Amino acid sequence: MTSPATPIAAVEEYRSLSAASILVIDDEPGMRNFLTKILQPRARRVEQAASAQEATRRLDEAHFDLVILDNLMPGERGLDWVANQRKRGFYADTILITAYADLETAITALRAGVSDFVLKPFRANQILGAVERALDRKNLRRDNALLRRELSADIGRGQLLGASGALQAVRDVMKRVAPLPTPVLFTGASGTGKELAARHLHDLSDRAEAPFVAVNCAAIAPDHIAAELFGVVEQGDRLKPGLLLLADRGTLFLDEVAQMPLQVQAALLRVLEDRRVRPVGAQREMPLDLRFLFATNADLQHAVSAGAFRADLYHRINGFTIDMPPLKDRADDIVELASMFMRQFSEALGMPVLDLDEETLLKLRRYHWPGNVRELKNLIERSVILGEFPEEFAGSGAVTGVQAIENLELVTQRHIMHVLDACDGNRAEAARRLGVSRKTIDRKMALWDA
Ligand SMILES: Nc1ncnc2c1ncn2[C@@H]1O[C@H](COP(=O)(O)OP(=O)(O)OP(=O)(O)O)[C@@H](O)[C@H]1O
Ligand SMILES: [Mg+2]
Repeated sequence: MTSPATPIAAVEEYRSLSAASILVIDDEPGMRNFLTKILQPRARRVEQAASAQEATRRLDEAHFDLVILDNLMPGERGLDWVANQRKRGFYADTILITAYADLETAITALRAGVSDFVLKPFRANQILGAVERALDRKNLRRDNALLRRELSADIGRGQLLGASGALQAVRDVMKRVAPLPTPVLFTGASGTGKELAARHLHDLSDRAEAPFVAVNCAAIAPDHIAAELFGVVEQGDRLKPGLLLLADRGTLFLDEVAQMPLQVQAALLRVLEDRRVRPVGAQREMPLDLRFLFATNADLQHAVSAGAFRADLYHRINGFTIDMPPLKDRADDIVELASMFMRQFSEALGMPVLDLDEETLLKLRRYHWPGNVRELKNLIERSVILGEFPEEFAGSGAVTGVQAIENLELVTQRHIMHVLDACDGNRAEAARRLGVSRKTIDRKMALWDA
């Protein structure tokens, strides 16, 4: 089936507008209604204010992506109002509608950070064009900031692989919790895939189209973390938006949360409770719509007892926990992971793939992987570069002839280990499933020194 091609730019514009909240400020009811009639069917939310005071009240209550403002209103000039609001914490893009655009007004408007002018009288498509341009610029700024971070971090963007029972259970839980607003805490040893799982959960949620912003609390200097997260008001009352604001309507992933400084924990608790953020140096709080995900490989409970982590924050983020199983407990995933990493690295490095023969796979299965999936990934990368597996994982290559008979022992071993994994290491149960005696299993295991 074919459908008419939609230009990507048009789709993006439509998306920015349909997700936007807009405040229309004008003392003339006719103009307010005209603007509302054009924008309401296309935007997420449109509100009106008939005076500067009413507009101030609305800003206290809610966050707007864009403000359309009449410059001449009784009481306070539109531009003065913008300048005053900037001081109180007002950062929305602003379009000024005015009948008189002299040079002085234009300069004052630029200084106040107005993004566009529309001269009265105007037609519907003129104001729509200005609105779309302003929102596009805003989204581009956001995407640009986020992409720059992503590029500077080495982020594994791959799929969450693995069909073992342990990982399947994790997947099932994620599917259930993804559509809910509940915060989720990912626990598990280093390299088990906590960050990848958090991204996967975001992709499963109804926020998948909005940003996923990962913040490593251990990687930001304690002095900077509040400004990085909550934003900071810089010279000229301009806001440098924090990561929370950049993630608005999306998902914020706070990694290594145990390492968050105590004073930032207090501020974060307020964000979680009130869904509002106050940038450093700002008077006004800004409402936020965020899904929070957390990860730690430290024992948070222990950090609480040691006084390094606030108990009240711990209870807020610990509501729903997903524990990522260590790789040694899901040896069934190793073949899939190793093959995928092998393909990836050989393609990326332009080197030939190495043969993952029975013997190598068995050795990979039997290793205990303290560094989990990351360690496996690194091992494969190193091996592709060197053109061979390290001694302890090397196999004898293709299995043929006499070797095939020798390798029967390896196949048996692999099968028994597989069944043992499926029974969580319970030898009696594995023996029952395999139809052999418990003694046979014990003897084999002693032989293989497993
Ligand atoms: N199930 C999986 N499928 C594919 N790749 C995986 C899987 N699990 C982990 N990886 C890869 O392993 C590496 C480590 O994963 P990740 O960074 O998510 O681990 P982590 O639990 O956050 O580790 P740490 O606690 O050290 O931060 C990444 O490159 C990731 O892409
Ligand atoms: Mg991580």
